[in-house]
Amino acid sequence: MKLLIERNAQDLSSTAARLVARQVLTQPRSVLALPTGDTPRGMYEVLVGLEQRGLLDLSHVRAFNLDEYLDLPEDDPRSFRSYMVRHLWEQLAAPPADWFIPSSNPADEQGECAAYEEALCRTGGVDLAVLGIGPNGHIGFNEPGTPWALGMHVVTLAEATRHKEAARFGGLANVPRRGISMGIKTIMRCGRIVLLASGEGKAEILARALLGPVTTEVPASVLQLHPWLTVVVDQPAAGALTTP
Ligand code: GLP
Repeated sequence: MKLLIERNAQDLSSTAARLVARQVLTQPRSVLALPTGDTPRGMYEVLVGLEQRGLLDLSHVRAFNLDEYLDLPEDDPRSFRSYMVRHLWEQLAAPPADWFIPSSNPADEQGECAAYEEALCRTGGVDLAVLGIGPNGHIGFNEPGTPWALGMHVVTLAEATRHKEAARFGGLANVPRRGISMGIKTIMRCGRIVLLASGEGKAEILARALLGPVTTEVPASVLQLHPWLTVVVDQPAAGALTTP
């Protein structure tokens, strides 16, 4: 595992974007697994800036989002689909033609999971996955207790996850109760993984994930077993990683 501790969220974003850019520059048709959330927003901004300056072409990548809410209209501004369009795809002069995000409202949920796995399988697998970490240690929407042996699957969101999103949805009652997520099995098959964590609020869970036992109770802890993991954090998120 490589650990990069950056001064602040801005530097974290630049470093994360550099890792993605390096992957795409060396392999323009890379298969990327991409996260949503507050943490990667800056990374997307930097990637857009690189494209605008003619330094990066994302049009040939094959992109897969890690997860999505369920029981939400696809065009709801809070869906991860809307997030990706807003923060990345519509900002690019040449967005990729090949982008797969599960529907937040599929007619056939199991069919949607199977279609995602099939599309991923056709590409030959993910070259680089960028992950965030939830306050309870989730990666994608793999909540504590999720078995490691799952591919794309429907999940019941943990209460901690729903609480974190309450303000964005105008109250807890409006936060979806379910999601759909790339499973740990699929995540662990990604060639390279970059894990991002920003802010003091992530310090304790990050320390548990990286230094604690590997357990399904802290889903991100499984990443300790991945052969190519780079963790990019800012100083506040690194707060519990060092002994005083
Ligand atoms: C959401 C997403 C995760 C993301 C996590 C952290 O629940 N499903 O994929 O990594 O939140 O988000 P943030 O960066 O906003 O803390």
